[in-house]
Amino acid sequence: ASQEFTGNLKREVEKLFDASLRITVPDGTSVETEVAASLPGKPGDYQCNNAMGLWSIIKGKGTQFRGPPAVGQAISKNLPASEMVETCSVAGPGFVNLVLSSKWMSKSIEKMLIDGIDTWAPTLPVKRAVVDFSSPNIAKEMHVGHLRSTIIGDTLARMLEYSKVEVFRRNHVGDWGTQFGMLIEYLFEKFPDTESVTETAIGDLQTFYKKSKTKFDEDPDFKEKAQKAVVRLQGGDPIYRKAWAKICEISRTEFAKVYQRLKVELEEKGESFYNPYIANVIGELDSKGLIEESEGARVIFLEGFNIPLMVVKSDGGFNYASTDLTALWYRLNEEKAEWIVYVTDVGQQQHFNMFFKAARKAGWLPDSDKTYPRVDHVGFGLVLGDDGKRFRTRSSDVVRLVDLLDEAKTRSKTALIERGKDKEWTPEELDQTAEAVGYGAVKYADLKNNRLTNYTFNFDQMLSDKGNTAVYLLYAHARICSIIRKSGKDIDELKKTEKLALDHPEERALGLHLLRFAETVEEACSNLLPNVLCHYLYDLSERYTSFYSIHQVIGSPEEASRLLLCEATAVVMRKCFHLLGITPVYKI
Ligand code: ARG
Repeated sequence: ASQEFTGNLKREVEKLFDASLRITVPDGTSVETEVAASLPGKPGDYQCNNAMGLWSIIKGKGTQFRGPPAVGQAISKNLPASEMVETCSVAGPGFVNLVLSSKWMSKSIEKMLIDGIDTWAPTLPVKRAVVDFSSPNIAKEMHVGHLRSTIIGDTLARMLEYSKVEVFRRNHVGDWGTQFGMLIEYLFEKFPDTESVTETAIGDLQTFYKKSKTKFDEDPDFKEKAQKAVVRLQGGDPIYRKAWAKICEISRTEFAKVYQRLKVELEEKGESFYNPYIANVIGELDSKGLIEESEGARVIFLEGFNIPLMVVKSDGGFNYASTDLTALWYRLNEEKAEWIVYVTDVGQQQHFNMFFKAARKAGWLPDSDKTYPRVDHVGFGLVLGDDGKRFRTRSSDVVRLVDLLDEAKTRSKTALIERGKDKEWTPEELDQTAEAVGYGAVKYADLKNNRLTNYTFNFDQMLSDKGNTAVYLLYAHARICSIIRKSGKDIDELKKTEKLALDHPEERALGLHLLRFAETVEEACSNLLPNVLCHYLYDLSERYTSFYSIHQVIGSPEEASRLLLCEATAVVMRKCFHLLGITPVYKI
């Protein structure tokens, strides 16, 4: 049978083994097909590991098989004919090894080159998702933790979007709460004419925050005024709302600078947005009998936690948890999202676990956490400085994100100038490359580690052109592009007229890795682990190097085929860069 490649190679192989198992297994035995990519150096490309397990199920039941290898033989024999398969054989205690047909592999890659890499996009069981990420707090510092959230969240959103999921990229900014009372009162004091206050007049909003906090702590009169201001703000007094809006706007302008640099798109729906719905949502939870009175506050007791989740404070006000419960309600019911993903530091894990549990108790979510509608907390570790402590800069304990990005860019520009690129390129080219490399380095250094581990922020390391860095990968891509350019061939023409052959082991290994792109994205996406994609990308460039260091491309008899292989590698690399939010470079 002709097998049209849908993108996910592992799944295609699984389908074949599924069909075989249905014939091999006696009626009524339920087995889950176990297929895994074979490790390098093993005889097959994929292996089916069902024989041993199956044997232990059927051996007592008068089976005709004489042990696991015989079960393996049957699995292999019953495999439906497919042009995907070169050979299928059994090894050891019953491992069934499948070798893919190189011809089929070539054809699938050729097809991708013509139809585009979007034909390899994974399909996920959800139509709409919310990614809640970045989410800094108004008037407070946007710290490196928010940078991590921004970078990780953007990548997850990109992977979901590539998988044809409609994604709401939500900036759940902290724009509501008691601190606004003191900020507004302080604003009135410093700038009686609130209308005309500008960003420059206030200067640094964080300093403004600190000063108002000092006053709040030291001056009882001010404190009282501030507390009254909260009530007026929350009651909707237009003058207070206006002052609040002004403060938010100034913060927003600051945040926007970072997003613009990182080319990250976000739609702000801050905590304040959910305020009008909170009372109803809490009312619903109350009517379901979830809420109890405890020390004047209203709380939800949850099994497995030694503290209850507070949803109404003793002064009657709402808090972080009440807002998050309401936002979840809104996202499920108003926005009809099927998957809601929250990206914050692991420190907030307990908060998420608690309100997720409360939502399950209320019947908003299924009991099993992998069934949809589904919620996930995507936690991440700390960013550390070289001293192994929480990352800070010399001058202050606040790391200004904008400065960090500027420095990455400046450093990568310097490196390019040292290599004489300022004489080869236009100033725009130099600037754009420096930016792509600098920002790409910051993003990649963050994404390549398992997000739960802490990582050390080190410019020298992330900007090195050796090892697993964005610089190395971007250069590798640019080199491939330059080989294609140097060949003088029209690659689009080659795609239409020439064939790709994977005759040599290095060509085949590279081709196989290319075909594993979709299953990798799907894995990274389903498990919310961007490092899986980084790992794939690094492997890809290593496999390309193994190929290129042995085989001549330009001027060889296989030139056309190898140029197509170069192009396919570049296409997949670019898609990886795109998913990681990194701008590719074409010249180096
Ligand atoms: N503003 C919070 C912080 O800076 C993050 C909000 C995360 N999103 C959420 N829905 N709780 O820590």
